Amino acid sequence: MPDKIDSPNLFYLCGPTLAMKIKDLTFKKFISESEIRQKVSELAAQINHDYAGRVPLFLPVLNGSFIFASDLLREISLDCRVSFVKHSSYQGTASTGQLKTLIGLNESIFNHDIILVEDIMDTGLTLSKVAEELRSLGTRSVEIATLIRKAPAREHAVQPKYIGFDIDNEFVLGYGLDYEGLGRNLRDLYQQA
Ligand code: IMP
Repeated sequence: MPDKIDSPNLFYLCGPTLAMKIKDLTFKKFISESEIRQKVSELAAQINHDYAGRVPLFLPVLNGSFIFASDLLREISLDCRVSFVKHSSYQGTASTGQLKTLIGLNESIFNHDIILVEDIMDTGLTLSKVAEELRSLGTRSVEIATLIRKAPAREHAVQPKYIGFDIDNEFVLGYGLDYEGLGRNLRDLYQQA
């Protein structure tokens, strides 16, 4: 039985495989909404267990993590705080390896248990730099929860404690992730076909 088509850009690529055309690229369904929901519940259960008796400060990194963060946080049964942050734009270009910093942090983070919430770690460079910066500011602890970790990030010294899905080095969109600004609203995750 083919899945429900939830966008006018969706079509069947071959048999029941759903595909999505965004600009010049074609994407096919990768991880379903129900698999994501199950994984998010597991991550939340782990966090609820690990942080029992503490009041963590969640820092979802916009834009990509907005859906993951809202689903994750509704399964957190702890007292917690939430503050949305964003990476500043690249100083130079991504390819030169220039690092970005975090903006929008208005809360005091001194002596707080921080959980950075990210949609995807690709090289892992940006988030590991941010985690190091936060650690140097007197936080009690800093951990990373990422929905997706791509293969290159597995090589990085700084690793997320909470990982939804480990994937190969491929481009994905949906569930908050975009391709040139499009596709964030899709319920499932898609990969390039
Ligand atoms: P990193 O510093 O290389 O880990 O870059 C991570 C950021 O790159 C994410 O927060 C996303 O904004 C973006 N990104 C990396 N891979 C993808 C992808 O497959 N789809 C959409 N955005 C991606």
